[in-house]
Amino acid sequence: MARRKIVAGNWKMNMTPSQAVELCATLKDLVKNNKVDVVYCVPAIDIVPVVKAVKGTRVKVGAENFYIEDKGAYTGEISAPMLKDAGVEYVIIGHSERREYFKEDDAFLNKKVKKAFEAGLTPILCCGESLEQREMGVTMDWIRLQIKSDLYGVPAEQVAKMVIAYEPIWAIGTGKTATTEQAEEVCKGIRACIKEMYDAATAKSVRIQYGGSVSASNAAELFAQPDIDGGLVGGASLKADFGKIVNYDK
Ligand code: 13P
Repeated sequence: MARRKIVAGNWKMNMTPSQAVELCATLKDLVKNNKVDVVYCVPAIDIVPVVKAVKGTRVKVGAENFYIEDKGAYTGEISAPMLKDAGVEYVIIGHSERREYFKEDDAFLNKKVKKAFEAGLTPILCCGESLEQREMGVTMDWIRLQIKSDLYGVPAEQVAKMVIAYEPIWAIGTGKTATTEQAEEVCKGIRACIKEMYDAATAKSVRIQYGGSVSASNAAELFAQPDIDGGLVGGASLKADFGKIVNYDK
């Protein structure tokens, strides 16, 4: 069976609850594409109003973060079961901004992937190299290390259902998109890595997104690549353009 495309917005630390509801209203009629799964990954405080705002549409809601314990004395944190109960279906794990600013390492991210599945959430696991690593020619070595560490001990049937997002750090928020060839090369390499770690069926089933300055003008070409199953979209997910990205095939 062909993989379904999945286009997810990563709102990052943008949109107050009332702005979030307004954005959902703006996007409502623009993000209809039966061939594409659409996800809004939103700040924790926007989850409840956004779940309500997208009710009755095909849009799914994702979280940007959670903590690895179910409950307890972790002031300020939110757990995976809390997200699930609020109506969240997807969660971003391992975004480069969390790796860099919040020092989340692969051992911690591995726990997050396992906890997400335990709670019934689908991880969108991010990986990606820095410009320096690309220039040194170690991109694929680095990405393979991230994938292998973050998925350590995660069973094939879970990996088959998850989403991996390839986001070259130098392409995030810079307006500098990876070329279609660069994006496809790494996404193909990630699929090969999954095949090596698991089997051909798992590699065929896992969905791999590209992220990093995805826009209405480059989405069609990127998403047409054989190993790119959609996108994780930052800046362009906060405006009407997101509708054009979801409808990249029109
Ligand atoms: P931009 O689309 O703003 O480059 O952000 C990409 C990203 O980090 C999505 O997670």
